[in-house]
Amino acid sequence: MHDDHDLVKLVGKLDLRAKVRLLSGGSVWRTAAEPSIGLRALTFSDGPAGVRGPGWDERRTSLALPSPTALGATWDEDLVRRLGALLADESRRKGVDVLLAPVLNLHRTPYGGRHFECFAEDPLLTARLGVAYVSGVQSGGVAAAPKHFVANETETDRLTHDVQVDDRTLRELYLAPFEAVVEAGAWAVMSAYNGVNGHPMSENPLLTDVLKDEWGFDGLVVSDWGAVRTTVASAASGQDLSMPGPWGPWGDLLVAAVEAGEVAESAIDDKVFRLLRLAARVGALEGQGDIEGGSAPEDVAGGEEFAPAEGLLPEAASGLALLREAVSASTVLLRNNGILPLHPGRTIALIGAGAATPRVQGGGSSGLYPAAENSLLDALRTRAEVVHAPGVRIDDQPTPVRAPVQVRVLGANDEELFREHRLTGRILETEEVPGAEVLEISTTLHVTETGPWRLAVAGYGRLTLDVDGTRVLDEVQPVDTDDPAVKHLRPPHHAVEVQLTEGTAELVARRELGEDSGMASLLAADPPRPDAEQEFGAAVEAASRSDVAIVVVSTTDAIEGEGRDRSTLALPGEQDALVTAVCLANPNAIVVVNSGGPVLLPWREDTAAVLLTWFPGQEGGNGLADVLFGTGEPGGRLPTTWPARETDVPVANFLPEDQKLGYGEGLDIGYRAWAAHDVEPAYWFGHGLGYTTWDYLDAKAERGVVRVRLRNTGRRRGREVVQVYLSREESAVRRPLRWLGGFARVEAEPGETVETTVEISAQATRHWAGEWVTESGGFTVHIGPDAGTTRIRLAARHVLRPR
Ligand code: BGC
Repeated sequence: MHDDHDLVKLVGKLDLRAKVRLLSGGSVWRTAAEPSIGLRALTFSDGPAGVRGPGWDERRTSLALPSPTALGATWDEDLVRRLGALLADESRRKGVDVLLAPVLNLHRTPYGGRHFECFAEDPLLTARLGVAYVSGVQSGGVAAAPKHFVANETETDRLTHDVQVDDRTLRELYLAPFEAVVEAGAWAVMSAYNGVNGHPMSENPLLTDVLKDEWGFDGLVVSDWGAVRTTVASAASGQDLSMPGPWGPWGDLLVAAVEAGEVAESAIDDKVFRLLRLAARVGALEGQGDIEGGSAPEDVAGGEEFAPAEGLLPEAASGLALLREAVSASTVLLRNNGILPLHPGRTIALIGAGAATPRVQGGGSSGLYPAAENSLLDALRTRAEVVHAPGVRIDDQPTPVRAPVQVRVLGANDEELFREHRLTGRILETEEVPGAEVLEISTTLHVTETGPWRLAVAGYGRLTLDVDGTRVLDEVQPVDTDDPAVKHLRPPHHAVEVQLTEGTAELVARRELGEDSGMASLLAADPPRPDAEQEFGAAVEAASRSDVAIVVVSTTDAIEGEGRDRSTLALPGEQDALVTAVCLANPNAIVVVNSGGPVLLPWREDTAAVLLTWFPGQEGGNGLADVLFGTGEPGGRLPTTWPARETDVPVANFLPEDQKLGYGEGLDIGYRAWAAHDVEPAYWFGHGLGYTTWDYLDAKAERGVVRVRLRNTGRRRGREVVQVYLSREESAVRRPLRWLGGFARVEAEPGETVETTVEISAQATRHWAGEWVTESGGFTVHIGPDAGTTRIRLAARHVLRPR
């Protein structure tokens, strides 16, 4: 292992040009290698809900974890740490050195498009789970890169908007989780696209003043993809690495800026030093002998030649068991009239398109390709007599063809430059070939049904579609965004309805590639739609004929996703009407909500039970079936408050105006804001029932801890998350009405009394007044099962200062 002294010597061996070359990516997912000092390229991959690996290719599969909101709902640091270690295994399998995760931004409002990628609305819960995640990943020798530093809570104009936030709010809410992971030893941090108080985060003084100087962060600051847009301002800031590359505003321009004295060479040296330190930590820096002038070992010559281990090892089978455990640990039981867990032997009407084709992941840059995923329909069929009826269709995106497709890259005069077979009509990356002018996707479509099929193509540039040799679509889609999540992942589509006859049809889609026209191309086909009224009626009919009706309701990719925020919290399509009709048809109606973040549940009081399954990852079906039949406990507790009505949402200003977004609500977000506005949400932060009941017996506060005794008063073993909120009625500063001070999980047998010790985090008793201050005197302690319910209240005088 290299010490700092060795690293300084290595930096000293490189001339300015060689050093600057290392500070922009070598490609989209890798840094540049420098064999002369034994440095191989570092490989990055997106998380946070799995490790896609470098590049987008459906043939390279990954384990799909539950979405971070689901991990937030576990309130379980041990589980999250184990999942982090699993991610490290996955990273190594795929040759990944740095996992771009976890996301530590907060659920400032339920409208945030990437809400599903963040843990919670509370900074303490986010910090504790973030630390667990980072330590799990790094325990496997893989760097975590917590992101997006900082205040990246809105997706609208995400590349350019500037967040206006006061110091105290920034410190106590948005910086707090980052401070915790830095203290826990994160090896990298990703700076955000947005600005804070007038400076884009890729050149913001917070990188140096707070992150590096004050907190002593000794790792690497990697930019968000394409976030570095200046030469001097960003290079003179604490931004260390500009990704991707080798293009971008550093390179030659930065060499010139250093030569002109606009950026100090010492700043460049520090960035390279940090890059080498990261490389040493993940094992990408070899050849100690080089310092004395030896040559780099062959296997670290690196660059694009570096061969990842991917493909050699299959996904770990033990990983699937852990993913299944995580599903029940994160499933939140919002209400239950006693119908759950289900008794065996009852007939089930399983309703909703999402019961057969669930949304197991949120997508955007976190998207990956699971080798297999199970639906609730698959999982229930093995346990009960099930009838499935979709009821309503909500898919708002065309379905990529799933038959094998042929992809060809064509040059001038349609000369074939490259050809390969792929498994889907959604092609995000293929071979980069010089002289490429057209990307062609073709397939033989199995026309299962005669009727009007909806065929679609997507991508930037000129798009054509031929069916059996006849042109049916010819459109030009101009590039209308810089956002990589749109340009490279989800470009606009053009659709056409074509009458097809049962049998086969030859489809050929072509996209003319222009400069800067993005990576993504799509060929999609959807069969004729059944009559909507008939489908709806059939589902309600099925519900009325079964003992139990389970309705799965979902959001769609258009509603929750990267690069855009939500315009409504209502479920799309006719799903609310479907649930209402099913509840009328069958009193035993259970609703399963398959969404990454809050949606409105206007019918909730009419149901027998409501469960939230989030985006549950590839083991979603099995994990949810465990919960429904009681082999698993619904262990989840809400990591964010769920509103009853949109008009009640206390923090709803999520849209920048003139590129400015004011966080004027200050410290009052989430449950703190609901309490301040004195509005009752549908379900408070922390809420979740489990399958047993608890009596909170008594509690005492001591130095730094609160001890709580509680008894399992139900009939089965269960798990409770004991939550301690603090308040302070007399204070030199304005404070939220209450805020989370600590939490602990307890498990107990029926009738058993247990004592749990809730540590009160130092983070919870201090406030920012230009420096951290902990007021002397007491806090009031509110102990309960959620942010809106106090079971025991204590006046804790002088007792909560950390030990
Ligand atoms: C996202 C990041 C992601 C990066 C690389 C960006 O658009 O904001 O979270 O890590 O792309 O995919």
